[in-house]
Amino acid sequence: GTPLVIDTDTAQDDCVALLVGLLDPAADLRAITMVAGNVGFDQQVRNAFMTLNVAGGRTGVPVHLGCRRPLVREWVSAENVHGDGSGGLRMDQDGLEPSGEHAVDALVRMAAENPGELSVVAIGPLTNIAAAVVRDPGFARNVKSLYVMGGSNNGRGNITAAAEFNFYVDPEAAKAVFAAGFDVTVVPWDPLTLKQAVFGQERLDEIAALGTPLARFFTRICGPTLEFDRSVGIDGTTHPDSLTAAVLLRPELVRAASRYHVDVETAGELTRGYSAMSWGVHGLEPNARVVEEIDAEAFFGYVLELLSRDTEP
Ligand code: BDR
Ligand code: CA
Repeated sequence: GTPLVIDTDTAQDDCVALLVGLLDPAADLRAITMVAGNVGFDQQVRNAFMTLNVAGGRTGVPVHLGCRRPLVREWVSAENVHGDGSGGLRMDQDGLEPSGEHAVDALVRMAAENPGELSVVAIGPLTNIAAAVVRDPGFARNVKSLYVMGGSNNGRGNITAAAEFNFYVDPEAAKAVFAAGFDVTVVPWDPLTLKQAVFGQERLDEIAALGTPLARFFTRICGPTLEFDRSVGIDGTTHPDSLTAAVLLRPELVRAASRYHVDVETAGELTRGYSAMSWGVHGLEPNARVVEEIDAEAFFGYVLELLSRDTEP
């Protein structure tokens, strides 16, 4: 399988992304690294362990704790959207302990051990990734490919009118990452996620009807965000993080992607964390591939298949 690390602020769809990494046979998930984002740091760790549990218990995948706050700014949470990120689930954490190695050290080490082999799926604020670039100037070169969930492709923000959450929380980190020379693919919030990676009631019913422990877990953890999304007029649950992992492992899900020069606003008053995605006309060298269209039906089918599995916790 594809060797990868998932860097996550584990809540709701981050959990689904971990299931992708843990259960897709195309994946060789080497580690999970944790970064400050969606909900309280310790709760995020609990959410990651619950996901490991529901995916079959002691998977042998290490969980490394990383940066507990953004590089420069105060931490901003999305608890108003996610609650505790697990729908209030409580589960035995049965012998699961975080690794003693810091996430940034683990990222740098793993990338250096096998240069050009490891892919990183970053589905939270980019603090750990930026810190790894500072820690080891060779990091961007050693990583095979970086898959980032964040920003909007000249569309709407979700935390402010201008900004998507992951880039808003740590704009300095996001800016540094796009300047670092990674081979980077971006899964933006709008229009891609908002229009295509949305599971409406019919799909959610189909998932619930599977009746597996994984499907029950999915329904539970997605409950709070479904309520929030409906309250703001989004008809279903959004799956940007699991899509980002899936796009690495199943490139055929991508129908259209283009090269852009991506940069992130750090100084704006109303535009903190805005992702400027510039196409050819501005004379800027492209530094990222931005996913523009997916096979939405195939993506849903992929998630449905994963959740239909029987795992033994
Ligand atoms: C991003 O923020 C979080 O709420 C999601 O997990 C996703 O990574 C979307 O803006
Ligand atoms: Ca996330």
